[in-house]
Amino acid sequence: MRIVLLGAPGAGKGTQCKRLLAAYTLVHLSSGDILRQERSEGSDLGKKAQGYMDSGGLVPDELIVEMMVKAIEDLATDGFVLDGFPRTVNQGAELDAALAASGKALDVVLNLEVRDDVIYDRMSGRRSCPKCGAVYHLISLKPQVEGICDHDGEGLIQRRDDQLEVVEKRMETYHQQTKPVVEYYQNSAVRVFDVQANGDAETVHAEIREILARMSDSQTV
Ligand code: AP5
Repeated sequence: MRIVLLGAPGAGKGTQCKRLLAAYTLVHLSSGDILRQERSEGSDLGKKAQGYMDSGGLVPDELIVEMMVKAIEDLATDGFVLDGFPRTVNQGAELDAALAASGKALDVVLNLEVRDDVIYDRMSGRRSCPKCGAVYHLISLKPQVEGICDHDGEGLIQRRDDQLEVVEKRMETYHQQTKPVVEYYQNSAVRVFDVQANGDAETVHAEIREILARMSDSQTV
């Protein structure tokens, strides 16, 4: 299955992708995670991306498209779930063209719908492991020991772009540049489903599973 998961910053895309991996044969490709990895390695791409990420803007399309198309081409399996990409209509068109060139297409677009006040709570409470990338929340997903990653014992940090003023800019960027991607897909051949995602992570996951099961039953996937 080839899935695109859309949603505002902090909507829970990464959280849902991890749950999907446990249920389906998929690879999770997160443009944000790949960029953060490039930054931590000090690569040219990471250096170029840094300023855009820290200010809540978007990294230029040409850098992102090249990075993500290569990541898709490098996959050993056919199934993937894209998280954070595409984020502009142009990125969507470039992705379609790259998939078409290899005789492939997306199966489904899932659009997580979350109220803005819920988004702010999720992002202000998020804590991440700088080593393995595991994501926690101060209230909804606590580590076993406060401030420490369950997986590797590393101290948890707040992402630089989860500071309130950057979150506000990211939300503005989302409404201006990423929301139109939903409409782009609604006007295409690929099936698009809105997922009400204000509830807890398990409830949202169950709704996504139901959508994918219905698609499977109708033999469209
Ligand atoms: P990126 O890392 O993609 O950030 P984002 O899209 O803003 O998404 P987040 O990672 O912030 O949130 P998420 O939706 O994955 O939520 P999560 O599951 O962690 O991008 C960062 C930056 O990189 C961008 O600003 C941009 O500069 C650049 N970039 C990336 N891709 C780009 C592209 N394609 N083009 C250009 N630039 C690009 O959940 C958030 C919190 O809520 C967690 O604490 C979690 O535990 C909690 N939570 C999640 N779901 C629930 C739930 N249902 N109930 C309760 N708590 C929940």
